[in-house]
Amino acid sequence: MAASLVSLTVSLLIFLHGAPVAVVTTDAATAQLPRSELAAIFRVMADLLGDPTWPQLHPRPCTDTPWPGLQCEIAPDDGRRLRATRLAGCTSAPICFVDDQAAAVELPPALFTNSSSLEQLVLKSNPGLTGVIPAMLSELRSLRVLSLSQNGFRGEIPPELGRLAALQQLDLSYNNLTGEVGVYMLFRRQIPEEIGGMASLSILDLSWNSIAGGVPVALGRLNLLEKADLSYNRLAGRVPPGVGSLRELVFLDLSHNELAGPLPASMAGLGKLQYLLLQDNPIGTAVPAAVVGSLRRLQVLGLSGCNLTGPIPRGAFAALGRLTALSLDRNRLDGPIPASLAALPHLGQLNLSQNRLAGEIALPTEFVERLGRRLDVRGNDELCVGRDRYGGVQASYLGAPPCVTAEGGDGSIGAGTSSSVEGSTGGAATTGRGFRVYEVVGMFGGLVCHIALLLVFYL
Ligand SMILES: *[C@@H]1O[C@H](CO)[C@@H](O)[C@H](O)[C@H]1NC(C)=O
Ligand SMILES: *[C@@H]1O[C@H](CO)[C@@H](O)[C@H](O)[C@H]1NC(C)=O
Ligand SMILES: *[C@@H]1O[C@H](CO)[C@@H](O)[C@H](O)[C@H]1NC(C)=O
Ligand SMILES: *[C@@H]1O[C@H](CO)[C@@H](O)[C@H](O)[C@H]1NC(C)=O
Repeated sequence: MAASLVSLTVSLLIFLHGAPVAVVTTDAATAQLPRSELAAIFRVMADLLGDPTWPQLHPRPCTDTPWPGLQCEIAPDDGRRLRATRLAGCTSAPICFVDDQAAAVELPPALFTNSSSLEQLVLKSNPGLTGVIPAMLSELRSLRVLSLSQNGFRGEIPPELGRLAALQQLDLSYNNLTGEVGVYMLFRRQIPEEIGGMASLSILDLSWNSIAGGVPVALGRLNLLEKADLSYNRLAGRVPPGVGSLRELVFLDLSHNELAGPLPASMAGLGKLQYLLLQDNPIGTAVPAAVVGSLRRLQVLGLSGCNLTGPIPRGAFAALGRLTALSLDRNRLDGPIPASLAALPHLGQLNLSQNRLAGEIALPTEFVERLGRRLDVRGNDELCVGRDRYGGVQASYLGAPPCVTAEGGDGSIGAGTSSSVEGSTGGAATTGRGFRVYEVVGMFGGLVCHIALLLVFYL
């Protein structure tokens, strides 16, 4: 039994529109919550706590037997009326809600009348919250924050939510959206285009669901969007060009989907983008240098596992002066490692492992020493380390054998003379064993950065 008592974190935050936060004073002792609001609170508490006696134990939850998670205020227009301004679970009380029945809990419709001035609805980490997301939520026209993350919601994202024109943050991450709903297979499995109606949206997080279909074209209409996380879904097709018009976008995570290339050229216009995470999508093109090479604010670029082919174009990342992490691992990249990557002043992580890169590693010693093991070139069978480079055995973590010295010559052969390759002029010159010479860019995905950004947004 104890094993089935899963601790839940539930917080339901209710802020009433425009109402000044008033401390409940003695006046409040005589004030009343409107019956419908009281009923809604009783239902939420009884359902989420799994305790049907909660309403009897807390008949006047604002005043007589206050519950630590509930805050009330006097209605600004009527001193005899109270309003619930905040209802919180684990955030303020050590006792968490317990999912002992695993019964589906539904959100009471009384919360969703369009007279409600609820501004924030935050219900997180409650696997007992199942079923579909109620379309009635679209009645909460004052809603600015809607977070239903880490629950058990299934089925479609209600298109009606597109009517929430005041919504600034939508977080439906870590559910089972568009996963199967019982025997009913009629649900749409994609992100509704109606999402384009959320004209105030700045944060959109639909990550870790099972959403299929394409990246919605309407995403391009959300021109206040700063963070878009659609990672860990089943999105397929190409990224729509409209995404390139999101001028405020700072963070774009489309990783772990089934997206194909090429990326739209318009994405080069994402002038504020700092994080571009595309790893683990079958992009299947050359390194998209024309797009990413102009994203001057970019700090983290993740293109691991994107089935990229061809060489790393030399200099393609040269404009990315703020780049700290570049991951291009698990692709099919060939040719040499461009030494120009070492010129990126803030680059602290470079993952080129598991490609087909070849030739002498011609990165400057200072760069190799600075990155240490954050430079990963392992799993490129034809890379080699030049004689006397990088302190010999100390650089064995590079995983590349010494370059074989040609008889009588001082150049290295074996995998080719990448330093001379690097020194040759651009274009597609070939040297040594025929490596094409381009300028290239790398990419990197950073979970740490991702987490840090989430903290910034949610704290
Ligand atoms: C919502 O409010 C409008 C007026 O603003 C009213 O006509 C409509 O009936 C209301 N809908 C509900 C479900 O209360
Ligand atoms: C999603 O659904 C699958 C089965 O359809 C289930 O095993 C899994 O636990 C669900 N995940 C969540 C977060 O509810
Ligand atoms: C990678 O691209 C090639 C074509 O260039 C294709 O045949 C292959 O299936 C792709 N691999 C993956 C994992 O998408
Ligand atoms: C580089 O990428 C490979 C393959 O994805 C991964 O196994 C390795 O841990 C990464 N290296 C670093 C230093 O992050």
